[in-house]
Amino acid sequence: MSVKEKHFQKRDIQTVLKHILLENYLVRWAKVLSNASFGTNLKRVHFVDCFAGKGTFDDGDHGSPKIASENLFHLQGSLQKKYEKSIKFFIHTIEAHREYYNALQSLKRQAPFPEQVSNNYGTFEEHIDNMLRKTKGYPSLFFIDPFGYKGLPMPKIQQILNQQSHEILINVMSYSLVRNHNIKNNQLPLKEFFGLNELNEDISEYLEIATENNITTLQTKNLLQLEDKIIELYKSQLKKNSGEELFVLSKRIFSKLNPNVYFHLVFATKNLEGLRQMKESMVDFEQLKITAEDKYIRNYQLGGITVENDLFSDDVQSSSYEYRDFLNDFLSQFNNKKTSYFEFVKFYLEETPLPFRSDVDKSIYNFMKRLSKTKSLTFLSQNNTISTIRNAKEIIFTARLNKTLIDDLCESDKMEQLKLF
Ligand SMILES: C[S@@+](CC[C@H](N)C(=O)[O-])C[C@H]1O[C@@H](n2cnc3c(N)ncnc32)[C@H](O)[C@@H]1O
Repeated sequence: MSVKEKHFQKRDIQTVLKHILLENYLVRWAKVLSNASFGTNLKRVHFVDCFAGKGTFDDGDHGSPKIASENLFHLQGSLQKKYEKSIKFFIHTIEAHREYYNALQSLKRQAPFPEQVSNNYGTFEEHIDNMLRKTKGYPSLFFIDPFGYKGLPMPKIQQILNQQSHEILINVMSYSLVRNHNIKNNQLPLKEFFGLNELNEDISEYLEIATENNITTLQTKNLLQLEDKIIELYKSQLKKNSGEELFVLSKRIFSKLNPNVYFHLVFATKNLEGLRQMKESMVDFEQLKITAEDKYIRNYQLGGITVENDLFSDDVQSSSYEYRDFLNDFLSQFNNKKTSYFEFVKFYLEETPLPFRSDVDKSIYNFMKRLSKTKSLTFLSQNNTISTIRNAKEIIFTARLNKTLIDDLCESDKMEQLKLF
């Protein structure tokens, strides 16, 4: 059985996790755009599933095209009941395997708004220019979920991101696929994927270790560090040539239930609200992952396996990021400078585990509120509403933060701990 056929038999745990993040963001994205459509002439939005698969798995679970149509058309249907002229979602798929394309055509016939679904038989490279023409000028999310990295040249991805309101969610680098491929055959498509003339040392070293049969614990550690660097390289390549500022986030999709197959989902947008929503999806993901793994263990009777949190999980990283870390980052980035709230929020969303707002106390907004009470900030703009990011570019402040604030904080933490004993 080929990798492709095996993939669609039943969803493996990584696929379940990938779909959790996709669905969570898709729903947020669709709601934000629906809200924005009221009182504006925004009436069309596109979702482009570039490596679509067959829509459902053999066990009946939904694949990405079906997840998109269920959620987007459900929202459109409920809005249409209330409002005459509501927003319309258009779903485009690209699929290179004839049988899967046929399956997508059957799904289209059953969809609530079949005229808003277009399935395209062929490869990403064959159809992408046409997709860009069709979506030009409209908010569009491109989901790019290949089996590897062949046929995905960086300039094409950058071309998608050159459009002002286009976003991508891309599955980058599968450990197992790299491991099973001959290095020489991979060189050209890999260079194209990263948009490099020569493979950089980290990638070559990564491939060398990953293709070995029995790797030691130390090598695994090196591999993970290299992998991080490679993802950072991919993100920085995405940012190259992007006319306006581009925001990028990534999430490692890993489960101890199947530790040999994992990948990163990389998200890129030019919209701060998009960045905010994806960060919140990534925070939600950590809890949803625990529930999904428990369900997976029950469904496939994997009793006896326990899944403690792994060290790389953002949940672990996020729980160790405290107000003190926020202040240290603030000191190094924004102290004694004129800063816009936009730059400030962007930095914390991209570079730290914090979401903009959350139900629990730990968020950019909460920490900023706490900091503003210390009187270290002076707002230079009339508007200083830090509870939303709507006018973030207009809010300007300067900061004179004293390092003693952090030392005092450490002291008070120590006192708290002493009281506990
Ligand atoms: C990982 S699967 C997609 C799974 C799907 N996105 C989901 O989440 O349910 C990758 C799909 O891409 C298709 N494919 C492979 N090469 C392609 C290409 N160059 N262009 C478009 N589709 C391709 C494969 O047939 C396969 O169905």
